[in-house]
Formats: sequence, C-alpha cells, structure tokens
Amino acid sequence: MNHRHLGSSGLEVSVLGLGTNNFGMRCDEATTARVLDQALDVDVTFIDTANIYGGTKSEEFIGKALKGKRDKFVLGTKFGMGGGKEPNARGGSRKHIMDQIEKSLRRLDTDYVDLYQIHIADPGTPIEETLRAMDDLVRQGKVRYIGCSNFAAWQVSEAVWTSRTLNLTSFVSVQPHYNLLKRDIEKELVPFCKKYDVGIVPFFPLESGLLTGKYRQGEPAPKGSRMDTTTMFSRVLNEGNFRTVTALEGFAQERDHTVGELAIAWLLANPTVSSVIAGATKPEQVVANAKGVDWKLSDDDLKEIDKIAPAA
Ligand SMILES: NC(=O)c1ccc[n+]([C@@H]2O[C@H](COP(=O)([O-])OP(=O)(O)OC[C@H]3O[C@@H](n4cnc5c(N)ncnc54)[C@H](OP(=O)(O)O)[C@@H]3O)[C@@H](O)[C@H]2O)c1
Repeated sequence: MNHRHLGSSGLEVSVLGLGTNNFGMRCDEATTARVLDQALDVDVTFIDTANIYGGTKSEEFIGKALKGKRDKFVLGTKFGMGGGKEPNARGGSRKHIMDQIEKSLRRLDTDYVDLYQIHIADPGTPIEETLRAMDDLVRQGKVRYIGCSNFAAWQVSEAVWTSRTLNLTSFVSVQPHYNLLKRDIEKELVPFCKKYDVGIVPFFPLESGLLTGKYRQGEPAPKGSRMDTTTMFSRVLNEGNFRTVTALEGFAQERDHTVGELAIAWLLANPTVSSVIAGATKPEQVVANAKGVDWKLSDDDLKEIDKIAPAA
C-alpha cells in the first residue's frame, strides 16, 4: 500500500483508507473487527470515524477492535454534527469540542486521536474559538492533527488565514463529498487545496456503492446492500448516474479493471487527494478496493474519463 502525506503535514496515511459509518449501524461488533483485521492485512491503516456514526457505536466497536494494535493505525474522528436538541450538543464551540474529545477518547479506548475534524462548519461560532480549542487539544497531546469536513472553499480559506494570523494549528485536510459522479468541488475547493497544500480526503468515494456497479437500473438492489436497507442514500440511483456508471464500467472493463477500481484510481490520480476512505461492510470489499490503488491512469485515460463523467 502506498502512503501520502496528509496535506502539508508530516503525517503519512495509506492512500486507501477505511470509512466506518456502517459500523454500529449495519455492521455488528464482530463484523467490524473482521473488516478492520482485513484492512490491516492489506495495509489500509487510515481509519475515518465520527462521534455520531452508528449512534456512538462506530467509535466503540473500533476501540474494541483496535485493542493492542492502536499504534498500527492512523485514527481520525469528528465532532460537531448531530447530537441531541439541547444547547451545545453540536457545533464548533469550545464547550462542545472539549466535551466531545473526552467522549471519543473513551469510546475509542485511546489517549490520542491522530486527526480531529470538525464535521460541518458552524456559522454560530467564530472560527477563532473553534481553532483555539482544537489548538489546545494538540498542545495537550490529545489530538495530533486537525482537519475539517463539509466546509466551502472560502470557509477553509478563512480558517487557514486565521490559524496563520493567530499562530494556531492549521487544518491539514478537508473532507468533502467527491467522486466521479460529483465533481463540483473542482471549481473552488480543489484549486485552493492544491495551492495551500491541504489534503483532500473524499467522502462517498464510491457514491455509496453505486460506483462499484452493484446496482442496476430497473433491478432491485442486492439483498442486504446499503440501497436495500437504507433509503436515505437512494437519490443517487437516477437515470443520469446509471448511464454514466455503465459507460465508466465499459471504460474499466476494456482495461481489465472494475468500475470500483476506476473510482478509486481516478481520485488518486489527483495528487492533492491524500487518501480515499472507501466504506466497507465486508472484509472482501476492502481487498477489492485495494486493487484500485495500483491502477495509474494516464493523461489520455483522464481525458477520456472527462468525456464520460465531465466536471460540473
Ligand atoms: N464528512 C461527512 O460528512 C461524511 C459523510 C459521509 C461519509 N463520510 C465518511 O466517508 C466514508 C466513505 O463513505 P461511505 O462509506 O458512506 O460511502 P462509499 O465509500 O461511497 O460507499 C461505501 C459502500 O459501498 C459498498 N462497497 C464498498 N466497497 C465495495 C466493493 N468492493 N464491492 C461492492 N460494494 C462495495 C458498501 O456497500 P454495502 O453497504 O451495500 O455493502 C459500502 O457500504 C464513510 O464511511 C465515512 O467515514 C463522511
């Protein structure tokens, strides 16, 4: 497995990471452990979770599964989204951050998080407050690097400028929705990250599995799959996307690859992408996804792909 620096930081992460929002929701504790063991076996060691995945069970199951092998993984988690309706249950306030890190550390059964990310921008809290609290966590040794997710380019820019001006720890990564079917961040966020060396960690890299070719237009979703069990993701199953995936599948098959491998290889063709955190519910999915890492797309390939799945 290759590794890349997470943005301008010294931290190296496996180029294929593991997304874990299925853990605790559609994967029980034993399955979570099996998927994580398989990940380690193929050197997929960058793990992305959040304080709200699977209720709070994703962090709990990961903490149990990583017992005795925590140091083999680079562990990222998040705060700021979801929670109850009560005040301070979400957002970027110092109070929420200081509360949540303690809870995440307990659940993950560790004394440090490698990458602590704000899950979504909080317009109600000054970014200085959020960054100062995150900076304090770095100084306390509870957190090693910080990042953000679901931020617009201007919001990342404001945060990086604020960190520089106030001499605070700066975001080394962003986590946006980005894949072959959703390329709108190429307008603003990707050029920003390239210029300022902020690592991109795309979420939904497989568009919830659609980009593996497992869903077919007009046919029921495979039994037990995400689209079979969870309706909230099904809006991506539309005619336009099916047409694009079929064409991408043809492109991949002509080159003896799967469309899932193409989805991963295409993201990694952009050097500003640090790691592709593909989600998995089964160990064999991690193995299949790892094959995408070795496919280096040529400039001609990329031009052809642009015709099939154009930028927004
Ligand atoms: N920051 C945010 O707001 C945000 C939002 C969403 C996700 N995330 C993070 O990003 C990670 C990745 O996103 P995601 O997991 O939601 O979606 P994804 O990576 O686009 O797709 C994951 C799904 O694809 C299917 N899959 C994976 N590998 C497969 C293979 N080789 N063959 C067939 N099917 C395969 C699995 O579906 P089945 O379940 O059907 O087996 C899996 O649940 C998440 O786990 C989470 O850590 C962050």
